[in-house]
Amino acid sequence: MKTLTLRRPDDWHLHLRDGAVLKGVIGDTSRHFARAIIMPNLVPPVVTTEDAKAYRERIMAALPVGDRFQPLMTLYLTEHTQPDDVEEGKKSGLITAVKLYPAGATTNSHGGVRNLDNAMPVLERMAKIGLPLCVHGEVTNPEVDIFDREAVFIETVLEPLRRRLPELKVTVEHVTTADGINYIKSAERNLAGSITTHHLIINRNAILVGGIRPHYYCLPVAKRENHRLALRAAATSGDARFFLGTDSAPHVDPLKECACGCAGIYTSLNTMSCLAHVFEEEKALDKLEAFASLNGPAWYGLPVNEETITLEKRDEPAVYPDKRDTEAGAITVFDPMYPLHWHVV
Ligand code: NCD
Ligand code: ZN
Repeated sequence: MKTLTLRRPDDWHLHLRDGAVLKGVIGDTSRHFARAIIMPNLVPPVVTTEDAKAYRERIMAALPVGDRFQPLMTLYLTEHTQPDDVEEGKKSGLITAVKLYPAGATTNSHGGVRNLDNAMPVLERMAKIGLPLCVHGEVTNPEVDIFDREAVFIETVLEPLRRRLPELKVTVEHVTTADGINYIKSAERNLAGSITTHHLIINRNAILVGGIRPHYYCLPVAKRENHRLALRAAATSGDARFFLGTDSAPHVDPLKECACGCAGIYTSLNTMSCLAHVFEEEKALDKLEAFASLNGPAWYGLPVNEETITLEKRDEPAVYPDKRDTEAGAITVFDPMYPLHWHVV
């Protein structure tokens, strides 16, 4: 039997939602993870420091008794975000990052940014005070093919922004392409990328072959196999610029299994077993701690966790529910399409 002990991991991109879904899913994160960056795309979004404070309180109230978990709050960037509010949020220790959603790019992003020029005062302040910008790196122009939206975003939005504000720290979230990986590797500083669990495991065939499979649909959408391989190479390389952001994004099943299903894959529950499987396949189990537990805190300037987590590889596969039941309805858990032999103990 193989065992693997790591510092307790963190999740640098997580959707916890609110109300009954929050109550139903949070335990799947707090069981394994010490901290997570909490996405602000609620309805209405978490826009001000005051909103973030109230949301943090709701998260703490939903936490299973006895779990130690620290939500790291983000603000949803709008064209009206106030630089002073953002600075205050950082100073008080409440705000870890600000999130840029190009308007219309993904779930609940209609209030996002249309013209980045209008957000420059906030971005300049963030560069000055060292507060990272997390970006959903996809353009939304209808002319751009959905499989090209990340590469076009890098070229037409991100690179110009970084030239204009070289001191701004930018996290490219949920990188899905070799283009994204290469761009991050080409930067000497102030640029990093998070990678999800599912993008290491599926390519676009999972969504489209043999019938349409809504539980593999997320944004950015999974790409061709060569991109998945580039993500795996980056994640398992130990390169400090890459770290785990699961982008676990729960939607109750009726919202996914319909004529216009929501984007989002629910991976919090089995992420650590999936990652151990992937890293073992890549003969890189020794790099899993860097990816899941060390590189993220280094980038965000936070201490690494002192507690540990142990995984064991057993002959019998891990048994876990295929759906997480919540008071709002059932949420399908990510199925990697193979049995998982790594158990979290
Ligand atoms: C996310 C969600 O549902 O909030 N969906 C997703 O497919 N990842 C939004 C996002 O991060 O794009
Ligand atoms: Zn997300």
